[in-house]
Amino acid sequence: MSVLVTGGAGYLGSHLVLELLGAGEEVVVLDNLSTGFEWAVPEPAELIVGDAGDRLLLNHVLRTRKVEAVMHLAGALAPPASVADPLAYYLDQTVKAREVIAASAANGIGRFVFPSSLAVYGPPTCLPLGEDAPCAPATPYALHKLAVERMLGEADAAYGLSYVVLRFGHIAGADPLGRAGQSTIGTTHLVKVALQAALGRRDHIPVFGTDYDTPDGTGIRDFIHVSDAAAAHLAALRHLRGPGRSLTLNGSYGEGHSVLEVIDTVQRLAGRVLDVRARARRPGDVPSLVAAASRIRAELDWRPRFSALQIILGHALAWERRSAAAAA
Ligand SMILES: NC(=O)c1ccc[n+]([C@@H]2O[C@H](COP(=O)([O-])OP(=O)(O)OC[C@H]3O[C@@H](n4cnc5c(N)ncnc54)[C@H](O)[C@@H]3O)[C@@H](O)[C@H]2O)c1
Repeated sequence: MSVLVTGGAGYLGSHLVLELLGAGEEVVVLDNLSTGFEWAVPEPAELIVGDAGDRLLLNHVLRTRKVEAVMHLAGALAPPASVADPLAYYLDQTVKAREVIAASAANGIGRFVFPSSLAVYGPPTCLPLGEDAPCAPATPYALHKLAVERMLGEADAAYGLSYVVLRFGHIAGADPLGRAGQSTIGTTHLVKVALQAALGRRDHIPVFGTDYDTPDGTGIRDFIHVSDAAAAHLAALRHLRGPGRSLTLNGSYGEGHSVLEVIDTVQRLAGRVLDVRARARRPGDVPSLVAAASRIRAELDWRPRFSALQIILGHALAWERRSAAAAA
């Protein structure tokens, strides 16, 4: 029996595959390599290059690889694309997820794990945000994530497809053993931008919004180490293999860090003063977004290992340095 990871050649996916292999699981990756990399899929996982929206291929893989659980990570992360080409985005995020869910249900697979986003809540109505807070997605990305969550709820009721939805904030860091890290081209993630500046590959770091009602005026965000996020998927799988019911959980430590705190930590780790430039607030950004973590700790056997910001950023910096050295 095997676990199918769509998007397993990507950032989160490659760490998830390492986590699953480390737990003795047999892993099949389905990835079209649009933003992922063949080299990022560790052996002995099998990589099948193909599209998550290809129903015939999905049926073939689910049957021939004796798949017993599906983790659906495939999809683009780029919110600007959702505005520039919304219909392509609908296809990628929601229509293809529907195909993966439908193929899973049709092939009798009862276990499904899906990484969603804290963005589904929209502007926070309370802090920290609990899973029962109302959802009012403010971006197409968040709306698509919520649509997939709803599809899963309905598929469970209709076909008995048990699922765990994990809502993450900013996933950051890299594998502590240096086997994987963030290599996505063109990512504008704060951590990646700060690290590139620390290595001299960017001349400055723009900070969008320095006049928020927060201790240092910059936004407070929810960060999680990528290996802890991957471990949460494995814990979700174990939950679904037991008598556990479907769950929607925040994948969070329950604490936040400001943008300046992240930049300061990178400066200290890199031993270098960076050029930080204040910019206007971006539409849709909120002062603080921190999720409650009590439910995931109560429901899953998940013990985060790398929650300190210094560790998250230290692992990310080590990966960035290694990648820069390899490219030189
Ligand atoms: N990185 C974060 O901070 C974060 C936070 C919350 C949720 N997530 C979710 O986690 C998942 C993975 O994100 P990531 O950061 O690893 O992104 P990523 O771009 O590194 O990985 C996505 C992977 O999916 C593949 N892919 C895309 N479309 C595909 C398709 N149609 N068929 C097959 N493969 C396809 C890409 O080639 C890539 O390997 C996404 O669903 C994302 O929304 C990520």
